[in-house]
Amino acid sequence: MTKVVLEARNIAVRFGGLIAIVDMNFSVHEGEIVGLIGPNGAGKTTAFNVITGYLSPTAGSIVYRGRDLAGLRSNQIAGLGVVRTFQKTSLFGACSVFDNILIGLHRCGARNAWEILLDLPRVRAEEARLRVLAADVLDFIGLSARRSELASTLPYGEQRLLEVAIALAAEPSLLLLDEPVAGMNPSETASFMELVKRIRQRGITILLVEHDMRMVMGVSYRVVVLNHGRIIAEGTPAEIQRNPEVIEAYLGRGAARA
Ligand SMILES: Nc1ncnc2c1ncn2[C@@H]1O[C@H](COP(=O)(O)OP(=O)(O)OP(=O)(O)O)[C@@H](O)[C@H]1O
Ligand SMILES: [Mg+2]
Repeated sequence: MTKVVLEARNIAVRFGGLIAIVDMNFSVHEGEIVGLIGPNGAGKTTAFNVITGYLSPTAGSIVYRGRDLAGLRSNQIAGLGVVRTFQKTSLFGACSVFDNILIGLHRCGARNAWEILLDLPRVRAEEARLRVLAADVLDFIGLSARRSELASTLPYGEQRLLEVAIALAAEPSLLLLDEPVAGMNPSETASFMELVKRIRQRGITILLVEHDMRMVMGVSYRVVVLNHGRIIAEGTPAEIQRNPEVIEAYLGRGAARA
């Protein structure tokens, strides 16, 4: 049995009167690619917000490598290796591709102004290390040729790739992708699927939220299905695709019998 990396234990989230997540329990094992799917408003992004510390759950706990993440801020959780991308694009359009990665790296750096003022050689060495890291990530993701272009001038599919590059530069152990292929064309989506597999080969565990069923069923080892904030099924892609409750959640009543 492989090691458990992440556990959601009895997570509940309420927004005032709205119940967004109800008693959610699932785990992710080392080296897995787990798909988290469900209709619009099912609670997928809310689950990501809870796991990555952007939102405190109303009840329950998130345990990462045996450590309860309660009370930690999002940047501290990222520092532990849990790194996410966002459903909506969050790039600095007026900065170059390369600088977008450097900005992302500085956001996770923990230097203060005094360190920068008093220890310039060390800061310069760190800056050089980050530049090498940024160049490596761009190379891995296939955007090296674009490094000097403004992020806003990239085709949409490449902007989404850049967001993944920024996340990878933070050197995640567990990477959470929120609808990474939304808005991509079929050939961009196909190459993104290969990229997800290459990320996994680097030893990074992946939790993937995605509406594109071919994509999520094509890369996931296991799929967890949320509907109205509740987990209604969990299994291999083949099991999920023939699960009547899942079919009904997506297509409405009667569809499972059709
Ligand atoms: N900050 C918030 N305040 C109030 N309600 C919220 C907030 N964030 C999410 N919700 C509500 O919680 C529910 C779950 O939203 P969530 O964004 O997690 O869904 P989702 O599964 O990611 O959907 P989609 O596939 O459309 O991205 C929705 O009803 C949404 O309107
Ligand atoms: Mg969402």
